[in-house]
Amino acid sequence: MATERTLTIIKPDAVAAGHIGDIIKILEASQFKIVAARLVSLSKKEAEGFYAVHRDKPFFQSLTNFMSSGRALAMVLEGENIIARLREVMGSTNPANAAPGTIRKLYATNIERNAVHGSDSSENAKSEIHFFFKPNEIFQRV
Ligand code: CMP
Repeated sequence: MATERTLTIIKPDAVAAGHIGDIIKILEASQFKIVAARLVSLSKKEAEGFYAVHRDKPFFQSLTNFMSSGRALAMVLEGENIIARLREVMGSTNPANAAPGTIRKLYATNIERNAVHGSDSSENAKSEIHFFFKPNEIFQRV
């Protein structure tokens, strides 16, 4: 299995609640390597662009209002099979269905304010990483 990269976002609910450190501790304990990080404050338009795939969903306005409501921490993680492994560590989208010990079980409030985002495929990981980071802002092995 080749090394992959994925995008994760610690969302405004978890940042406002002071859980950046708690969540990074879980990511590092999972042996995920952080190769880029940036604190962002998305505009409504940027949030709509990031979540464009959901534009026809009933929760789109509410989701993009939430995602543009405050600080969020965007990070690129690197590792073997990292896309699937991150999604396991995050837990189900709806925290009510998330397994014990997962980030969403521990820190999410509800299906929308669910503490973290993680790319769901290799194709989406590439475009989501590109949304936040230029190639020279991502750590490269020497
Ligand atoms: P995320 O993994 O970032 O991908 C899309 C986001 O939409 C999801 O996390 C939730 O924040 C939100 N979302 C997904 N399903 C629902 C829903 N049924 N109601 C409200 N928000 C949702």
